[in-house]
Amino acid sequence: MALMTLEEKIGQMTLFTTDWESTGPSIRAGYENDVRNGNCGALFNSHTVAFTRRLQDIAVKESRLHIPLIFGYDVIHGYKTIFPIPLAESCSWDLAAMENTASIAAKEASAAGLHWTFAPMVDISRDPRWGRVMEGAGEDTYLGSLIAAARVKGFQGDNFDHADKLMACIKHFAGYGAPIAGRDYNTVDMTERTFRDFYLPTYISGVKAGAMTIMTSFNELDGVPSSGNKWLLDDVLRKENGFHGFIVTDYTSINEMVNHGYSKDDAQAGEQAAIAGVDMDMQGAVYQRFLKNSIETGKVPMQKVDDAVRRILTAKFELGLFKDPYRFCNEQREKENIFTPANQQAALEMAHKSIVLLKNENNVLPLTNKKTIALIGPLASDGAQLIGAWSGAGEGDKCVSVLTAFQNRAKKDGFTLLHANGTDISGMDKKGFSEALAAASQSDVIIAVVGESREMSGEAAVRADLGLPGMQQQLVEELVATGKPVVVLLMNGRPLIIPWIAEHANAVVETWYAGTQGGPAIADILFGDYNPSAKLTMTFPRSMGQVPLFYNEKNTGRPYDPTTKYNTRYLDVPNTPQYPFGFGLSYTTFKYDSLQIAPLPPGGGVEFSMKDTVTASIKITNTGKRSGEEIVQLYVRDLVGSVTRPVKELKGFKKIKLEPGGSQTVTFKLTADQLRFYTADMTYKAEPGDFWIMVGPDSERLQKKQIRLVE
Ligand code: BGC
Repeated sequence: MALMTLEEKIGQMTLFTTDWESTGPSIRAGYENDVRNGNCGALFNSHTVAFTRRLQDIAVKESRLHIPLIFGYDVIHGYKTIFPIPLAESCSWDLAAMENTASIAAKEASAAGLHWTFAPMVDISRDPRWGRVMEGAGEDTYLGSLIAAARVKGFQGDNFDHADKLMACIKHFAGYGAPIAGRDYNTVDMTERTFRDFYLPTYISGVKAGAMTIMTSFNELDGVPSSGNKWLLDDVLRKENGFHGFIVTDYTSINEMVNHGYSKDDAQAGEQAAIAGVDMDMQGAVYQRFLKNSIETGKVPMQKVDDAVRRILTAKFELGLFKDPYRFCNEQREKENIFTPANQQAALEMAHKSIVLLKNENNVLPLTNKKTIALIGPLASDGAQLIGAWSGAGEGDKCVSVLTAFQNRAKKDGFTLLHANGTDISGMDKKGFSEALAAASQSDVIIAVVGESREMSGEAAVRADLGLPGMQQQLVEELVATGKPVVVLLMNGRPLIIPWIAEHANAVVETWYAGTQGGPAIADILFGDYNPSAKLTMTFPRSMGQVPLFYNEKNTGRPYDPTTKYNTRYLDVPNTPQYPFGFGLSYTTFKYDSLQIAPLPPGGGVEFSMKDTVTASIKITNTGKRSGEEIVQLYVRDLVGSVTRPVKELKGFKKIKLEPGGSQTVTFKLTADQLRFYTADMTYKAEPGDFWIMVGPDSERLQKKQIRLVE
């Protein structure tokens, strides 16, 4: 650092994008010169070995100090092998599986020259209008925190010895998932207590898991945009939680502080960002244009720049780039490690685990002994949709569609497959209805594949009406009117609001966007080769007016009672969700015996001290005819607090596998530590008093026992 000029230091704090044209990757001339002159230390969207090698050559051979570049990219749910969207994966509740898909994504992306992923996205969101819920792990803080840590470990591994990992980037810090009215980029406003109890922990869990970088969010929090929020970045993140890595902004978010009305111009925005502790400016060129002057005029202390550069260069050392700037540029690995059969198998297995069975009246699924199957709907044949939003370098045409998977089955199993789109995803055209209905009328069972197009979720993809777009709802209604059994396969990036379908379809399967191997995974589930085991990590409301609807709400002074008027309720819809958090069916059934709490003192209720461990155990039996997996869930309610507490909060879960007739006792251990929250005086601690311990298959069907925590 002693050798560096101020300009070169600011260069390390500058991140620019490269482009991707029909002819291949390219870099704008200005940015190329910035790299050459030491004015840009990192690039994003640059991938493939050939391209990153060419760019690294410029940095290492032509710049004065030969400092290597970092290459970043949004590797969110896969590089070329695309796994189910993160929200879908979260429904597996399978931390090892999610760690594994992140590590495969890292292996593929690092083989294509990349060092850094802008993932995992860990924003808690309770609002399905917000299109970016597809990218997260759902509405729950406890589960989301575990998933954040698993994904960080998957991407980053333990070290960079083999150049087959990526630096992780926790995003978007902070509170980005709670914009007013679900509108992307909108204002976020919540109490510090709500922020600390429900929104902050997932980011901190990613930090504690070792994430080397973190990204600021676009939104403001309590009136201060994140990229200028010293309290958030310096106090909460660095001082309180010991984050040592570097902080990058989101795309031009320093510049946007002018629009927010927090900075009078870009120069001031840059000063506010530098003082707040932002190390790297993504795409805004604010530091590049103004920071030198701000230092020279004493508006920003030099220490801020030195700290930032030290953090960024440390990351480059840890990546091993100073030893060998080309260690991620390995043509052979690029040829051999990407889109391999083993990775396709992993994508298939993850898709199996992510698909949620929501309804299965009279066991219409799995499909057995069917002679003629009608596969209807615009999403059946359009395999490219399966990669979902934020699918990196994934190629839609490499996905195996539901139609192809069914055609392969038809050949193998000898049934007749009839197929018609019926309508488009969002057009108003009903011309295809007659063909679809003709196919339906000749079939034994109708499979309707409906939902959103992949562009309808993700960034800047907010919807105000969460029903099926276009004429798809009408199509399903006409299919149901044929009187044949109808299975609705949903493909979408967020909870949809589908009360009519939930009532009238015989079966409903939430497949999300299931990735490169989505079609075969869906077919395996429908034909019974895989018994569904996933459970929802986001509540499905029954009406738009209920949004935001989430399981861990407060009781209020007038708790819900549908039989009387003056309580917290709607006149026209119940408060209950269509499908609650934690819900999902299997082809088998599970019986829960009664919940046992130990130690059990004479006289019933359990008292335990701040140092004790309470054990909650429950015997589960597979009472059906198939082997299956069950996700057993533990919730807690703190009955009286110095501030009010939610009616239930997830505190544990176990996924078990049982053969028909088999049983297992699942045991949860609970200590006072798990009962902590931000109390009236904002200390984080557990308060003595009574608690309900609740266990069950989802957030609604719960058994409970009361225990008492004593000093
Ligand atoms: C998104 C980030 C992403 C960045 C770089 C932004 O628009 O909000 O999540 O990492 O672009 O592509």
